[in-house]
Order: sequence, then structure tokens, then C-alpha cells
Amino acid sequence: MAKLATQFICSACGAIHKKWSGRCDSCKAWNTVHKEVPLGTGPGTSLGASRGQPIALIDLATEQAPPPRRSSGLAELDRVLGGGMVLASAALVGGDPGIGKSTLLLQAAASFAKAGLRVIYVSGEEATAQIRLRAQRLGLRDAQVKLATETNLRDILTVLDTERPDLAIIDSIQTMWLDTVDSAPGSVAQVRASAHELVSFAKCRDVAVILVGHVTKEGQIAGPRVVEHMVDTVLYFEGERGHQFRILRSVKNRFGPADEIGVFEMTGAGLAEVNNPSALFLSDRDAPAPGAVVFAGIEGTRPVLVEIQALVAPSSLSQPRRAVVGWDGGRLSMILAVLDARVGITFQGRDVYLNIAGGIRISEPAADLAVAAALLSAREDIAIPPKSVVFGELSLSGALRPVVQAENRLKEARKLGFTSAIVPDGCKIGDAAGLRLTPMPDLTRFMDKVFGTT
Ligand code: TYD
Ligand code: MG
Repeated sequence: MAKLATQFICSACGAIHKKWSGRCDSCKAWNTVHKEVPLGTGPGTSLGASRGQPIALIDLATEQAPPPRRSSGLAELDRVLGGGMVLASAALVGGDPGIGKSTLLLQAAASFAKAGLRVIYVSGEEATAQIRLRAQRLGLRDAQVKLATETNLRDILTVLDTERPDLAIIDSIQTMWLDTVDSAPGSVAQVRASAHELVSFAKCRDVAVILVGHVTKEGQIAGPRVVEHMVDTVLYFEGERGHQFRILRSVKNRFGPADEIGVFEMTGAGLAEVNNPSALFLSDRDAPAPGAVVFAGIEGTRPVLVEIQALVAPSSLSQPRRAVVGWDGGRLSMILAVLDARVGITFQGRDVYLNIAGGIRISEPAADLAVAAALLSAREDIAIPPKSVVFGELSLSGALRPVVQAENRLKEARKLGFTSAIVPDGCKIGDAAGLRLTPMPDLTRFMDKVFGTT
């Protein structure tokens, strides 16, 4: 067979180049192009003169039941999976090192086993003795989970094929290697080929597979995006190191809603489920202070209340600092620009710090007004009315736009003892849950009403 030419793959975007270059033509990233031996060097992969086997076609309409789902027994995990793990499906769990992926999956493995599933946990990173030690710490010493420490995927698949478990957990995909691929474990080609083998195995053999994936410093699962395309569900396990809260977020789910979150707390005995995240995020709240605003947000299908904190201080730098934790830096610049252009409040010559308390990350534009309120409150040194929540999207003109699920946000606020809410004009609110509402058409009116200035 003719030798296939070596190719060069960009590890950031997966683009294929004929020759090496310092910068990827496709995504313009530097130092991401690496040499790889192409896939499909085995016999029978290229189309020859012979015709292939006919494939079976079936009707879309069917009486057959949808693929079964199995509950994990962990309500927060089930919620993120869309109501349980679908058998014969593949999921990817990504997260920073040390965030708790292995802990979560060992607990999930034990919980699935308790629900009657046959579970195999394969670690490419830890010795079985280490996993046992962790299980002991988690109080799961007697869980009916089969363990293995192995990185050779061919051997792993052979065992999975004979054992035929209901669920196989592979920790992590970056440590697995296939002897048919001529590059180091963790390289783009190895990760892609290993993920492909495991996903095909899941589909053909009706085994649910959960892969653990490491995250690059840019926050994406290492290896090209193609692994995320291959699997049915992509979950990210996030959280701040200094905080005990951990959030499992679904960013893709072929069997349920994406953007759903599950909230956990890292304790001395593993991860504990948090059924009421708002209460937890607001639990160590100080007395109302300038710069602190409670935002009524929605994560997936559930309302979550969080505190947004801002600090504005005189700066001695020619380029004042803009530091953000848990919110998009670009969006902060936009809000600062709108405040400057539309209500004449400038932050020039001042450092601005913005923090979402509790270590949660917010990406909803509905938090715009709460962020603006926190910035204004910090700058003017005026606290916003106590026991009130704020939400609303800000447009570049300074007008406030209505947001979705206003009623759910208000109900959650009421449940947690808030009495009033500052909301955009035109929100669809059936039942304000007994909250005093202050609808606002734009930023100017908001400034006027809340801070008594224009
Ligand atoms: P781990 O699951 O090993 O992280 P990952 O697989 O994502 O790299 O989690 C390790 C961290 O979790 C470690 O810093 C210690 C902490 N931890 C606890 O706080 N309590 C526990 O019961 C366990 C098992 C770990
Ligand atoms: Mg781990």
C-alpha cells in the first residue's frame, strides 16, 4: 500500500496543512501546528474498485420505544444529563485539573452501580490502590464497581467487549493510546482516534461511555473540537479553586436541554449535592453595601440568585485596571461604554473590579442591568435598596430590554425573602409573587429613581 503523506494538524482548530508553519492559516493561532501521521492507514480504509456492503435502511416512523435512560441516583447529575444517562450513548466531562472530575465520576459510578448497573471504571492516571483510597474516603468502599488501570485502548476495548458493562468510565481520554496511531498519547490524532473507537463501541455494543477530558488553559477540552462533535453530551465541571461550589454544566446534549446546571459542594467526604443553589450563593452575604447587587438569573431551567460585587477605586495607572471574575470582560467594557455615552458617568482614571460571588460564571445578558447597578452603586457610594433583586438586558442605546422567564426569577427571589425587584419595562409577568416591582424603560430613569441623579 502506498505510504500516506505526513500531514500537519492545528491542535486548536483541527485544520489540516500540507506543510508545517508557525501560524495556522485557518484560526491564526501561533505554535499550534503539529506533525501527525494521518488516520486510516489500515487496510480497507480507502475506496477501491470493489463495492461496499449494502447498508440497512429503516423507517423513521417506528413503534419502538426510545433508548432507555437510567437514573444515576444523583439528582443534580441526572438533571444535567436531561433525566438520566441514555444507554448506548457517549458523554464527555471536561474540567480543570483538580476540580473534582475523578471524584464526581467515582461517586457517579458507585451510584449507578447501586441502581443496578454494571459499571467499569478505567483510570489511565491513578493506580487502583489510589482509587480505592479515594473510594474509602468517599464512603464507597463496598460499591460494586469494577476497576482497572490501563492506557492501551485495544486491551480496554477487548475487556469491555467480553464484560459488556452497562456503563464504562474512561479517566481520561488524553491518557489513552491506540497502537494503530503513530503518535504520542495526548496528541490530537490519538485523542481523536481513541474517542472515535470508544464512541463507536458505545453505539454498537449498547454500552454507555463517559469520557473525562482535560481542559487547555483557554478553557476548552484539549484536542480539536472534533471530540465534542463525536459525543452525544458534553459537560463541563467548573468552579473556583478557593470556593467549595462546583458546577456541572451541559454545553451540548443530544438527549436533553443544553445549558442546564447541577450544583455540588466539595466537602471533606466528596461532592455533596446542592438542591437550593440560591440559598447557598447568598448565604454568606454581608449587610447591604455600596457595590453589591443581587441578580435574579436563570441557569438552564432553574432560577439562581447570585450577588454581583463591584469596586471602583482611583487609579494611578495610565491604563486603569478592569478585572473581572465570573463574567465576560468584553461585556463589562460594553456596559462601561454605555454608562459613559448614555448617562454621562465615566470610569476614566478609575480601576474597576467586578466579581460574581460564589465562584459561579454568568453568561446571561439579563445580568447587564445588575452589573450596571453594581458599578454605579460602587462609584456613587450609594447602596441600592435592601431586599431587592435586579435583572434586565441593556442595549447600546441605554434602553432596557425585557428578559425571558421573568416570573420564575421573581418567584425564586420571593422564596428567598426579597421584597422588591427592579425590572425592565415590558417583561411578561403573570404573577409577581407579591414582590414590589419597579419597571424601568432605560438607564436614565434607572439612575434617576435609584440614585437620585441624572
Ligand atoms: P480530583 O477528582 O482528583 O480532580 P480531577 O480528577 O478533576 O483532577 O479532585 C481532587 C481535588 O478534590 C483535590 O484537590 C482534593 C479534593 N477533594 C476533596 O476536597 N474532598 C474529597 O473527598 C476528595 C476525594 C477530593
Ligand atoms: Mg482525575
